[in-house]
Amino acid sequence: MNKKTHFGFKEVNVKEKAKHVGGVFTSVANSYDVMNDAMSIGLHRLWKRVLVEIAGIKDNDVVLDIAAGTGDIAKLISKQFPSSEIYVSDINNEMLSLGRERSIDEGFSNNTHFCQLSGEAIPFNDAAFDVITIGFGLRNFTDKSAGLKEMRRCLKKNGRLLILEFSKPNNLLFSKVYDWYSFNILPKLGALLANDSDSYQYLAESIRMHPDQENLKKLIIENGFQDCKFYNLLNGIVAIHVGYK
Ligand SMILES: C[S@@+](CC[C@H](N)C(=O)[O-])C[C@H]1O[C@@H](n2cnc3c(N)ncnc32)[C@H](O)[C@@H]1O
Repeated sequence: MNKKTHFGFKEVNVKEKAKHVGGVFTSVANSYDVMNDAMSIGLHRLWKRVLVEIAGIKDNDVVLDIAAGTGDIAKLISKQFPSSEIYVSDINNEMLSLGRERSIDEGFSNNTHFCQLSGEAIPFNDAAFDVITIGFGLRNFTDKSAGLKEMRRCLKKNGRLLILEFSKPNNLLFSKVYDWYSFNILPKLGALLANDSDSYQYLAESIRMHPDQENLKKLIIENGFQDCKFYNLLNGIVAIHVGYK
């Protein structure tokens, strides 16, 4: 029998989810950065800065950024730690190509290497990285456990994984306003700025289907990470999870 999973609120065949997710990011790639600024009123920049701050990267560290998209996190790491080496990776060619072009235009190509790969089957050796980061990517994986196991395998002993992802607001009233914004404003904003409301409807749905803070922490621990904790940002709309190998 064909195994099912979710793609937003829809049920799809497990083998088909990556294709659906690929369709979303291919469709939004060109307007991705503008939409990120518009829908978060620029806050995603701050969240990514906090991620890099918490990551505790040191000079000469080797870092893998998974689901890197257009390269925001890699850019921050590259500028702050010029002696680090950053592997900037994404499954989607359109998103990654924009990132590669940006790295040249915005001066972070010196210490970055761009590679197209799935975070669920990482083609690097065991213990290759000091730090692995993933921003707003895990939510889209078909098999999150497979991805987390792969990330752990590729980390050096005591290496750190940092996951920046949408999560669950703490406050009920805040949560209701956020739901209204997500399902009423976000798709309209998508239609207006990206000519694509379906992809932003998927965004809102995929966030609701993603494990909350405690359940994601449990999943990270189940997949072998230690000293796991999370930090809530903006009342838990976004959380940063940290785990050690
Ligand atoms: C919302 S974007 C995040 C981009 C960037 N990290 C940021 O924070 O702006 C999600 C990215 O995850 C990528 N992605 C989805 N599934 C993936 C997978 N299995 N492995 C690697 N990347 C994946 C998509 O192609 C997309 O570029």
